[in-house]
Order: sequence, then C-alpha cells, then structure tokens
Amino acid sequence: MFLVKNNKIFLNTKVFSKYQKFLRIYRWSPIFKRSPWFSIHPISTNDCGPMVLDALIRVKEDQDSSITFRRSCREGICGSCSMNIDGLNTLACLKTLKTNNKFITIYPLPHMYVIKDLIPDLSNFYNQYKLIKPWLYNSNVLIKEHLQSKRDRVQLDGLYECILCACCSASCPSYWWNQNTYLGPAILLQSYRWIVDSRDKKTKSRLEFLNHKMRLFRCHTIMNCSKVCPKSLNPGKAISSIKYMLSKMT
Ligand code: SF4
Ligand code: F3S
Ligand code: FES
Repeated sequence: MFLVKNNKIFLNTKVFSKYQKFLRIYRWSPIFKRSPWFSIHPISTNDCGPMVLDALIRVKEDQDSSITFRRSCREGICGSCSMNIDGLNTLACLKTLKTNNKFITIYPLPHMYVIKDLIPDLSNFYNQYKLIKPWLYNSNVLIKEHLQSKRDRVQLDGLYECILCACCSASCPSYWWNQNTYLGPAILLQSYRWIVDSRDKKTKSRLEFLNHKMRLFRCHTIMNCSKVCPKSLNPGKAISSIKYMLSKMT
C-alpha cells in the first residue's frame, strides 16, 4: 500500500481500484486545544452518490460522525455547503467526485474564522447583507402586487439567482484583507439587484450608501469572484455597473 523512496513514504495508488478515492478533510475544533489537522478517509465512488457532498455524508455516517459541515438542499439552492475543494471555492453538492485525483482535499472557505471543521463563521457576511437593506422599498402600500414590465424584469436575471453561498467573497483578495469595511462581491451583487429593480424607490440612497472608498471602491476588478461563482453569476460585472451608475450621478 505504501512505497518508500528517498526516505519518503508515498501511497502506492496503483494497488487501489479505479473507484477508490480519499477525502482529505481539514479539521479543527475549539474544544481540543491543538492546531488544525487533516483526517483522511477512503471512499469508493461506485458505492456512494456522485458528488463530494455525498462522499462527505457517507464518511460522516460510516467513519467519523464528528466531522462537521453545513448542508441542506443538496442541489445548489440553499448555498450552505460552500467550501474549498481542491483549491476552489464551490458547493460540495455540485462538485463531482469524478476527477483524476486520488485525493480530494477539502478546506472551509478561506480567510474566515472557523467555528468547527468545515464551518466558517459567516456572521460578518450576514451583518453586511443587513446593511444593504435587502428588501423592496415602495411607499405605495395600497398596492398588493408591484407589477413590472417584461423588460424591467429581465434586468434582474443573473442577479436574483444568487444564493449567498459566499464562495465569491471568500475568493476575493480585497475582501480577505478588508472584510470589516469592504462589502465584497456577494453583498454588492445583492445590492445591485435592488438598485436595478424598477419597483424599488430607494435607488439613489442605495447608490449613495455604496459611494464609499471602502464599501465599494476596494474592488480592484480582480475578477476571482466571477470565476468561482458556482451559479455562473458575474459579481465583478455587477460591481462595475454600480461604479458606472455612480459616475453618471456625479
Ligand atoms: Fe455565491 Fe455566486 Fe452569489 Fe457569490 S454571486 S454568493 S458565489 S451565488
Ligand atoms: Fe474582488 Fe471580484 Fe472585485 S475578486 S476585487 S470583488 S472583481
Ligand atoms: Fe444546498 Fe449544497 S446543500 S447548496
């Protein structure tokens, strides 16, 4: 099972079947007074579902019930299973196990405090979401339905699908270093979703709130955010659109 070469030990992957893989999972718990570690778990891809989340659930059920991660819908809708898999922030329920790698390395979302194992602390992220007032402002309370033309409705495509998984924000270097003050791509995309909503009557004050050197202008168009979004959205473009609208205002 192991090979020794130059005094180093290697796993001899040739002795395993083509279905055999290993999950290498980042572990940390506040109750143990020790540094983070990895736990390694064999899985057989012909004996579990097709996605990384299926493998994690299988490992938790069969091998180590203490492994902790978030998940709910298992179909890319709730945004709770976001984690860093083989170096990429993504949703475990949308990430296939079918790769050439024998080892699949799983970390929590980077540059966030860890509550336990694969669970990042998203309190700051949700507090920032609250700051942009993510609800409709329309003083006409007598109207039961706020109708929109088809053309106005199309403006929300590519924005309303955001599931707030935080994969984009956790991939943005500007957000890594300034997350107390910079809102980050996910929250800015959400803000833009309300700015372009024809039914909303607070467009100007929403833009004024964002017109700030830290909240918005810490985006340096690095575009990692648009590359990683598991829903194929484009937060970088939304941020540029906000900057463009601000330039037209002044
Ligand atoms: Fe997740 Fe994409 Fe929304 Fe960012 S824009 S929070 S990556 S769904
Ligand atoms: Fe960051 Fe995306 Fe801007 S990666 S710097 S938010 S374009
Ligand atoms: Fe809901 Fe993955 S479990 S998005």
